[in-house]
Amino acid sequence: MYQEFAYLYDTLMKSVDYEKWVDQIEAIFRRYEVEPKTIVDLACGTGGFTNSLAKRGYPVIGVDQSVDMLNVASDKSRKSGWQIPYICQDITELELHHPVDAMVCMCDGFNYILDSAELKKCLQGIYRFLNPGGILIFDISSHYKLSSVVGSHTMADPDKNISLIWLNQFDRKSGILEMNLTFFIRQEADLYRRVEETQLQRAYCQDEILQSLNACGFSGMECFAPLSLAAPKKKSQRIVFSAIRREAENIRNDSAGIGL
Ligand SMILES: C[S@@+](CC[C@H](N)C(=O)[O-])C[C@H]1O[C@@H](n2cnc3c(N)ncnc32)[C@H](O)[C@@H]1O
Repeated sequence: MYQEFAYLYDTLMKSVDYEKWVDQIEAIFRRYEVEPKTIVDLACGTGGFTNSLAKRGYPVIGVDQSVDMLNVASDKSRKSGWQIPYICQDITELELHHPVDAMVCMCDGFNYILDSAELKKCLQGIYRFLNPGGILIFDISSHYKLSSVVGSHTMADPDKNISLIWLNQFDRKSGILEMNLTFFIRQEADLYRRVEETQLQRAYCQDEILQSLNACGFSGMECFAPLSLAAPKKKSQRIVFSAIRREAENIRNDSAGIGL
């Protein structure tokens, strides 16, 4: 995953307004009254969030398992003058040099974790490397989106420079969506290069995620619709989650934080 695709990713994501998404992240920081001094951007990809957070003055570290995505990310950071450390790592095996105040994982990172046990392992690692009182913010493509909107449909985007055919198959039993992507990339005049990539994403229900967060020791869980602080709707295609690592576990040993 995300090898040749890495170099097409930013072109395909050009309509995404990362600044607005980071506005939501900062609004959640304010809601929890946290002012993170250090942030890790998990599954940071080409660094859309990493760079935007750096631009706003946060010291950020980017983590991703794709060398190619990290190549693009670090090139962009260097060109913008940000000194951002990038770590090539599987987020289910998270190892950092020191704990941090906040972690974010935006734009589906957790959907790529294909089973619940691995997701819990990932959340445990995050918990371990968050400072007490530290915050985790992430989003997922909702179960509704993966099963019913993207579902078993085929989509096409016939652009002059990069055309895309997107063939999907959703398996209700496993909750896994298989996405077969075929790109036709214009080389010159009428000559196109064909690139293929298969991706798997797992559809998680909101409650399953909340229970996993709870089981890993997080508290104060909340869920939001995209780009707002309103609760998600039944047909929201994206759900944003937030949770905190308890201040001092032996003192506040309850899970009754904000919202859960
Ligand atoms: C849809 S992209 C999102 C990238 C970035 N967060 C953004 O919003 O532009 C998903 C990213 O998750 C990364 N990823 C998927 N599974 C991962 C894992 N287990 N560990 C680290 N990175 C992972 C992929 O390499 C890819 O860069």
